[in-house]
Amino acid sequence: MFAKQALLLSSLAALAHAHETVLGVYIFHRHGDRTAKAFPPTELTDLGYQQVYTSGEWFRSKYIDANATSPIINISPNIVKLSQLSVEAAVDNVLQNSAAGFLQGLYPPVGATLGAETLANGTTVESPLSGFQLIPVNVVTSASASSDTSTEDSAWLQGSSGCNNAVLSSNSYLTSAEYLKTLNSTASFYNSVAPVVNNTFTSAYTTFKNAYSVYDLIHVSSIHNTTLQDSAVLTNETLSQLLTLANQHEFGLAYNSSETIRAIAGSTLAAQILQQLNVTVTGESAVPVGIQFGAYSSFLSFFGLAQLPEVSDDFTGVAGYASSMTFELTTNATVSNTSYPTADQINVSFLFTNSSAAINPPVAYPLFGQSETSLPWTTFVTEMNKFAIGTQTQWCNACGNSTGVCATTADASSSNSSLSSASASSSSSGGGMSRTVAGVIGAFVTLVVILGLEALVLLVGGLRIAKKNRGGAGANSAPTSDVKA
Ligand SMILES: *[C@@H]1O[C@H](CO)[C@@H](O)[C@H](O)[C@H]1NC(C)=O
Ligand SMILES: *[C@@H]1O[C@H](CO)[C@@H](O)[C@H](O)[C@H]1NC(C)=O
Ligand SMILES: *[C@@H]1O[C@H](CO)[C@@H](O)[C@H](O)[C@H]1NC(C)=O
Ligand SMILES: *[C@@H]1O[C@H](CO)[C@@H](O)[C@H](O)[C@H]1NC(C)=O
Ligand SMILES: *[C@@H]1O[C@H](CO)[C@@H](O)[C@H](O)[C@H]1NC(C)=O
Ligand SMILES: *[C@@H]1O[C@H](CO)[C@@H](O)[C@H](O)[C@H]1NC(C)=O
Ligand SMILES: *[C@@H]1O[C@H](CO)[C@@H](O)[C@H](O)[C@H]1NC(C)=O
Ligand SMILES: *[C@@H]1O[C@H](CO)[C@@H](O)[C@H](O)[C@H]1NC(C)=O
Ligand SMILES: *[C@@H]1O[C@H](CO)[C@@H](O)[C@H](O)[C@H]1NC(C)=O
Ligand SMILES: *[C@@H]1O[C@H](CO)[C@@H](O)[C@H](O)[C@H]1NC(C)=O
Ligand SMILES: *[C@@H]1O[C@H](CO)[C@@H](O)[C@H](O)[C@H]1NC(C)=O
Ligand SMILES: *[C@@H]1O[C@H](CO)[C@@H](O)[C@H](O)[C@H]1NC(C)=O
Repeated sequence: MFAKQALLLSSLAALAHAHETVLGVYIFHRHGDRTAKAFPPTELTDLGYQQVYTSGEWFRSKYIDANATSPIINISPNIVKLSQLSVEAAVDNVLQNSAAGFLQGLYPPVGATLGAETLANGTTVESPLSGFQLIPVNVVTSASASSDTSTEDSAWLQGSSGCNNAVLSSNSYLTSAEYLKTLNSTASFYNSVAPVVNNTFTSAYTTFKNAYSVYDLIHVSSIHNTTLQDSAVLTNETLSQLLTLANQHEFGLAYNSSETIRAIAGSTLAAQILQQLNVTVTGESAVPVGIQFGAYSSFLSFFGLAQLPEVSDDFTGVAGYASSMTFELTTNATVSNTSYPTADQINVSFLFTNSSAAINPPVAYPLFGQSETSLPWTTFVTEMNKFAIGTQTQWCNACGNSTGVCATTADASSSNSSLSSASASSSSSGGGMSRTVAGVIGAFVTLVVILGLEALVLLVGGLRIAKKNRGGAGANSAPTSDVKA
């Protein structure tokens, strides 16, 4: 440790936070370049593989390597210690493969010397592929009763969240004055673009209503299809306008400050981030690295909830391929094997990059409308808990769902005294949920998180596996959610 700190001190002497020690990180990562959503099932391309792999290499050089610039305390530098990582992705080929590609960069093959073992009988066995390291990617565990929010095959952002109130809220965007105005004013623009995609989309489909699908097809084609690049219609200006409109459309569906339920994907992500970082803090960095691969909807919703659009307009746009947000736990207290900082000595920083970190290194931005980019852990917890949705009960209440998995949850939670008082006061209406009720639920967040989590993992884990078997051709065989490597 001393050697590491000395190295850090000498190499970073010019920086202000010279004493800083990184206690852990949570990385939420988008997949790399993929095929168009218009032709499901989507697949990670070679370009996308490269993007996530080099991102993994960048994170390795920052946090993991023996000569890393901000080494995580006690992290195993070369041979992966599975107990130190928690890696998750939805049941989705693009996301699962992106996670796998990233991990190859994070912990590359260790070669014939490290990647070999000597058996009892004296024979030495080398692991395949020059010491390639196997790292499992678990199925994401979240409060949402459906993991499909983040799959890449779905073109409609909220369609498969399974959250009734979120779907209603997003649908209301499609009847809003702002939306109708843009639909009208962009009609001729989309008409001019229609011939480019008329092999795939009808001209009736090619409107602002399907801004993301249209953009996605053209964007993917502009990267992979030389024929399309010859099109006179597709100037840089047209491409840029397609992107701007797609961003506007998707952000409209993902977040609205007066209806935070629309951002359900961000709320469940916030709970996952908090939960994993808390495992790092309370476990004294025994599990210092949390990684999740997810879709842009979670980014957009989280951006809105965390008040990032106030910092930069970039946070109202769809995050680029292989982009990532990183939550870094730091301290400037002395850390050793016998002394770990207390909660009030720990800070959280938020970093974001809109592409592979290897191309644009992540930059720190202030969360929650605050001015500092580094916040005390306790402040971070309070602010995240204002919108985090971490348990099945909370999720069912906020979503106004009372059937299916939510019916089971209502039964299960009534046997638990703390939970039943929470749900009794909040779940009286099965359909729409008023904002007052949402506020009441929010106040119970901290209370319910711990109690609900076990039941949640079981319920959600069970449902997931059923779903996977149904949908499943080609899906990675993912371990059950209670297997935490
Ligand atoms: C860090 O170490 C790796 C080998 O583990 C080496 O390839 C790399 O060049 C080193 N980087 C720096 C900046 O010294
Ligand atoms: C040693 O054990 C391994 C695994 O059981 C076996 O494949 C190998 O042939 C053995 N070597 C000798 C020299 O017995
Ligand atoms: C929530 O309710 C909606 C509307 O009734 C339904 O479509 C959706 O499947 C429900 N979600 C779950 C997880 O039961
Ligand atoms: C757009 O709105 C104007 C009136 O504001 C209307 O005359 C026109 O028909 C509308 N265009 C479309 C394509 O709906
Ligand atoms: C697509 O548009 C081009 C150019 O307007 C036209 O020549 C072609 O016939 C159209 N194809 C289809 C399938 O409509
Ligand atoms: C490339 O784009 C052209 C024009 O839209 C289309 O006809 C062709 O099928 C596309 N090729 C591929 C491989 O997608
Ligand atoms: C269009 O954008 C590409 C990539 O950003 C750039 O290389 C090219 O020069 C631009 N073309 C024009 C005409 O501006
Ligand atoms: C938020 O939603 C409400 C109700 O749907 C709508 O009136 C308002 O314009 C939306 N605000 C924004 C910023 O989109
Ligand atoms: C963190 O975990 C500990 C132990 O499980 C728990 O007591 C505490 O409430 C949790 N804090 C947060 C913010 O979740
Ligand atoms: C601290 O603990 C780590 C992991 O258990 C170990 O590798 C390291 O040698 C220890 N350092 C000291 C100074 O005891
Ligand atoms: C870190 O150090 C700065 C000044 O050097 C101090 O103001 C700050 O409170 C410290 N933060 C933590 C989390 O210990
Ligand atoms: C922790 O956050 C506080 C408040 O934002 C800041 O003053 C302090 O410098 C931060 N400490 C570190 C180590 O970044």
